[in-house]
Amino acid sequence: MKNTALTFQEMKQKGEKISMLTCYDYSTAKLMEAAGINAVLVGDSLGNTMLGYPDTLSVTMEDMITYGRAVSRGCSDTLVVLDMPFMSYQASVEQAMINAGRLMKEGRGGCVKLEGGATVCPQIKAMTEAGIPVMAHLGMTPQSVNTMGGHKVQGKSRDAAEKLLEDAYAIQDAGAFSVVLECIPAPLAEFITKAIRIPTIGIGGGAGCDGQILVYQDMLGMFTDFVPKFVKQFGNVGEMMTKAFIDYDEEVKATTFPDEEHSFKMKDEEILKDLAEKLRPEQAIGGEVDPEYLERLY
Ligand code: KIV
Repeated sequence: MKNTALTFQEMKQKGEKISMLTCYDYSTAKLMEAAGINAVLVGDSLGNTMLGYPDTLSVTMEDMITYGRAVSRGCSDTLVVLDMPFMSYQASVEQAMINAGRLMKEGRGGCVKLEGGATVCPQIKAMTEAGIPVMAHLGMTPQSVNTMGGHKVQGKSRDAAEKLLEDAYAIQDAGAFSVVLECIPAPLAEFITKAIRIPTIGIGGGAGCDGQILVYQDMLGMFTDFVPKFVKQFGNVGEMMTKAFIDYDEEVKATTFPDEEHSFKMKDEEILKDLAEKLRPEQAIGGEVDPEYLERLY
C-alpha cells in the first residue's frame, strides 16, 4: 500500500494505528519499508544521531536535502517526511515556502514537518495551498530547547494544556494533515487526539495517539548519549555492532580474516615469479623485499 498524507487520514478514520520511525540513509530505509513501517521521518534529530551535535539547531537545509534524498531512494511505498531545519521557516512565509519547495524538489520528500502552533499557521496554510502536505509538531519542540530550558514534558498546567489544545485546532485549521505530539502527558495527548480530525503521532505521548514514532537508533539501542523515558529498546543492535567490531579487529590482527573463502584466487600464480624480476628492493621497508615471502613464492 502506498502511504500518503491522505492514507494517514483514512487510517485515523478506520481506527488503524500508524507506525513511524526516523530514518537517515538508503539501506535503513529499505529495511524499514520491507518491515511495513507506514512513514519515515528524516528528522533534524540527525543533528544528534548522525552529526554528533548536542542539539538540532546546527542542521542545515543542505543536510536535510542530502539525507532526505538518500532515504527517498530507499522508499517506494513508505511516506517520507522531511523536517524543516531551525530557522528555515520561522522568519517569513516566503522563506518557508522556498525552503519547503527545496525539500520536496531536491530532497524528494512526500511532505514536510515543522515545529510550532499558531505562530507557524501562515506558513502551514501557504504550503498546503501550494500542494505541500505539512505535518506539524507540538509539545516538546527540540528547536526551542533554549526557550523551553531543556527537554522537558510540556502541557502539565491547565494553561499549558489549553494552549496545546488551541495550537492543535489552529494547525488543523491551517491545513496540517497530521501532528507529532512530543513529551506531553498521555491523558492530554489522548484528549487532543479525540478532539481533532487529523492523526496525532506520539513520541512520549502515550498509547492514545493515532500513531507512534521513535528515533531508530534509540529503539535499537545504538544511541546511548541520552535515553529518554519514553524510549523502549526493541533490540540491542548497539551491543551486536560493538561485538562485531571487536571480532573483526581481533581477526584482522590474528590474520584469520580474510580467509580463502573471502579472497580472490589467481589463475596463474607463476606470473608473480616473473614479476619478481621487476621488484625494486629499495622501495620496500628496510631496502629489501621480505626474504621469507620470496622463499614462499618460489
Ligand atoms: O527530528 C526528529 O527526530 C523528530 C522526532 C523526535 C519526532 O522531530
